[in-house]
Amino acid sequence: MTTVLTYGTFDLFHIGHVRLLERLADLGDELVVGVSTDEFNAVKGKSTIIPYEHRAEIVSAIKHVTTVIPENGWEQKRQDVIDHGVDIFAMGADWKGKFDELSDLCEIHYLERTDGISSTKLKEQLADPAALDLDRVRHALDTLQQVVDNYSTLR
Ligand code: CTP
Repeated sequence: MTTVLTYGTFDLFHIGHVRLLERLADLGDELVVGVSTDEFNAVKGKSTIIPYEHRAEIVSAIKHVTTVIPENGWEQKRQDVIDHGVDIFAMGADWKGKFDELSDLCEIHYLERTDGISSTKLKEQLADPAALDLDRVRHALDTLQQVVDNYSTLR
């Protein structure tokens, strides 16, 4: 039985979160996720749109996740690894090297992030509808360009 542990805020739950949790689950048999509490986010200078209770419930509902625990501070990780019998501690690549001190207890993995999306980016887009429209226009133009290119090669 291989147990994997990760931590995150998971605000405005998005495709980058799902893909990370899916790849983490593939590393083992059980996936424990520490969700940052609102109080801990305040310590990190981060605020969320979705409150902790809802973020924790959303992450729990993901089929790849076995258990959700609260992340209350920086110091709990070593104890969590011991308490949950963790074999692999894994985070997104934005944390590369930051948790290597746990390598005496378990394997440490840093996984590539999904390009082009983050909770911060979503918040920026929501705060600036013009930016949202611009992205849609770009996407529509890219799609149109692909159609034109395909059509040209067929002729
Ligand atoms: N993550 C990912 N791909 C993304 C966004 C996040 O793999 N596009 C991963 C992060 O590396 C982290 C986990 O998802 O291991 C939770 O990240 P979190 O900080 O909640 O997500 P972000 O969208 O990066 O949030 P923020 O913009 O507030 O930093």
